[in-house]
Amino acid sequence: MRDRDLDFTVSRLGECRHQSPMSGVRFTSDDERVLYHSTLDGVKPWLDTGAAPPAMEAAGPRQLLFFDPAKLACGIVTCGGLCPGLNDVIRSIVRSLRLNYGVSKIYGFRFGYEGLVRRIGHEPLELTPESVHRIHESGGSILGSSRGPQDPEEMLDRLRDLGVGILFAIGGDGTLRGAQQISEAAAQRGLTIGVIGVPKTIDNDVSFVQRTFGFETAVTEARRATLAANAEAEAAHNGIGLVKLMGRDSGFIAAYSALVNNHVNFCLVPEVPFTLEKFLSALQQRLERRRHAVVVVAEGAGQDLMAKSGERDASGNVRYGDIGVFLRNAITNYFNRNGTAITLKYIDPSYTIRSVPATAHDSAFCLLLGQNAVHAGLSGRTNLVVSFWNHHFTHVPIALAVSTRKRIDPAETLWDSVITSTGQPPDMR
Ligand code: F6P
Repeated sequence: MRDRDLDFTVSRLGECRHQSPMSGVRFTSDDERVLYHSTLDGVKPWLDTGAAPPAMEAAGPRQLLFFDPAKLACGIVTCGGLCPGLNDVIRSIVRSLRLNYGVSKIYGFRFGYEGLVRRIGHEPLELTPESVHRIHESGGSILGSSRGPQDPEEMLDRLRDLGVGILFAIGGDGTLRGAQQISEAAAQRGLTIGVIGVPKTIDNDVSFVQRTFGFETAVTEARRATLAANAEAEAAHNGIGLVKLMGRDSGFIAAYSALVNNHVNFCLVPEVPFTLEKFLSALQQRLERRRHAVVVVAEGAGQDLMAKSGERDASGNVRYGDIGVFLRNAITNYFNRNGTAITLKYIDPSYTIRSVPATAHDSAFCLLLGQNAVHAGLSGRTNLVVSFWNHHFTHVPIALAVSTRKRIDPAETLWDSVITSTGQPPDMR
């Protein structure tokens, strides 16, 4: 999408007539905007013509609300794979609804969108500040989660029957698409139900969102694996530590793991193709020079090197081949063939990097996301995600957030830094 076509207009349920019960806070004006571009060059085309550059609506508490908090019921749902910080966001939303606004009815829908379909039979939990008091100390989601869509009309029926005015949907692109459908179906039926998304993915792959919660924790946790791989590799003559990390289509976790320290010598990500021949020969050269090597591979990397299964998961994602096992075998066979004795240790931390409690910084980030989601919902905004952009919390229409996937741009400085840090050849095609 061209920058000129970006439309950050956020949908509203109607006029705000209720005074906010919050006091002693700086209210955000509806006119406050956060620039989309952060460089002078970026905004120059608009400055030159005198037009307003593309900008996102600023998040934050509004003085006037659409909903009367005293009469409002809300719902929260967590969908998709686990992510550190889910419980922090749930806790933050519940506390803000009750303590900032006095909302007393808060439903926690169980097991993702399944919990919004009556015939499936998961009864919602009633959430209070007391019941969520210490949930952020644990990983996972107290509500449970599931993958896959459900019929938006059936979900809407449930929300209507429970009298829910705002649904907070915490999830990745599949969840956000579901949230968009609920919001659009509600508008079609004339139901005043707002839907606010909180973007969640350890992969950090949601567009128009600078950083998603849980990503930092996942990188922190992944460091345990790269440190172990390095210790194992250094302790052997021709030692190789191979680590596979999550990252289906975007390799941010692998890339940042390479930047955490200089132990990682090869970082393979889905965005940057490589051939086995070039990679193995570079690995051999590294061993000849230094006698040990650490390789980090994102799970979505090198998929073109393996046979495709054609299968999909419940979210509709293609099931990828196991690049970690594939590389382990390829490396072993290659050095066997050329008569070099190696010691290869393969580490797949798998789900352990996403099922842990959030780091302190991620926790604080989750708290702020949750509060801003509540402010957006109470003001009658809908069909949006709360984003963090240019160091501000903002509102982004869901349609934009799911329009493309955020991926590493190999032409940008992040990838340059990875190449510098690892010392791997810039082109292994
Ligand atoms: O949520 C993103 C993610 O962690 C990906 O990195 C990974 O491919 C996927 O979820 C795996 O999730 P599951 O096995 O639960 O479907």
